Amino acid sequence: MFNRRNFLSKSLLASLSIGVVGCQSETTNHEELPTSQNVSKQSSTPNKPISIATWTHGKEANEVAMKILLEKGKAIDAVEQGVRIVEADPKGTSVGIGGTPDRDGHVTLDACIMDEKGNAGAVCFLEGIKHPISVARKIMDETPHVMLAGEGALQFALENGFEKENLLTDFSDKAWNKWLKKKKYSPKVNSENHDTISQIAIDLEGNISGSCTTSGLGYKMRGRVGDSPIIGASLFVDNEVGAACATGLGEVVMKTLGSFLIVELMRNGATPEEACKEAVMRIIKKYDWKELQVGYLAVNKAGEYGAYAVQKGFNYAVHVDGENKLINAPYFYKNPKEEN
Ligand code: GLY
Repeated sequence: MFNRRNFLSKSLLASLSIGVVGCQSETTNHEELPTSQNVSKQSSTPNKPISIATWTHGKEANEVAMKILLEKGKAIDAVEQGVRIVEADPKGTSVGIGGTPDRDGHVTLDACIMDEKGNAGAVCFLEGIKHPISVARKIMDETPHVMLAGEGALQFALENGFEKENLLTDFSDKAWNKWLKKKKYSPKVNSENHDTISQIAIDLEGNISGSCTTSGLGYKMRGRVGDSPIIGASLFVDNEVGAACATGLGEVVMKTLGSFLIVELMRNGATPEEACKEAVMRIIKKYDWKELQVGYLAVNKAGEYGAYAVQKGFNYAVHVDGENKLINAPYFYKNPKEEN
């Protein structure tokens, strides 16, 4: 019998190995946390729930999501409620309230959500609403559209019961005022080890959904929108195959449509980690990547998961089999200065 996975795996792996030729430095993994190469990657039963999310704050999101999943809730509810906990945390300076403003002092938010049926909702350049992910969900559920932007998104949110509030905390205001003295705009690698939250869950029915929410790059140009509300860039779900999501510098994620690419590579036989690595390699091959970070996460239909990043420092949280653990993602670039 024709085995599509084996057939495509071989051709894909050949192309993946070509992609890696010329790498500046293939890395080992960094210390402290386990890595995705030395942790169990597979649920032993197909419909075991799993929640996976970017960065340390992914652990909190996973806790909320897993409670919903274990109570037979839907993956789409798990990923909406999961990231809301991070949006509501004023101490987080990259998501929701407390987010770092643009260079004119406005906190502007981007988010998207996608369910197992391929439905999607997104919001971008939204101001004054703490939970953009729930606005995105409402757009998905209750309008014929996928994305609303700016004033129109705010109008829709207010008409649907969301309350307007000041999202610029004293902490972020002070940091912005300090930044104004030099006005140096330089998106740094892992500057806070804390970025966009993207989350993927599989529920007891085996259905997959994902979410992504952010305040975007700190001190960005007014009107700048990143990858986070773009379906296929920051997030893509195909319930037959799996899902992928992104964190990091949105511009290169948008230009390579990373999450869609990863899902298509998994469809063609790549493991989640292989697919994430190839998406990173597309960035490495085309762009000046040394000062930027992008991290990808992916889960396939069997509950196997993996990740890959441009640089050291990207971690993610996985909640499966009763454990919610942080994992250091493998990465492409090892800084020669760190080798001594
Ligand atoms: N990944 C978030 C952004 O670039 O806005």
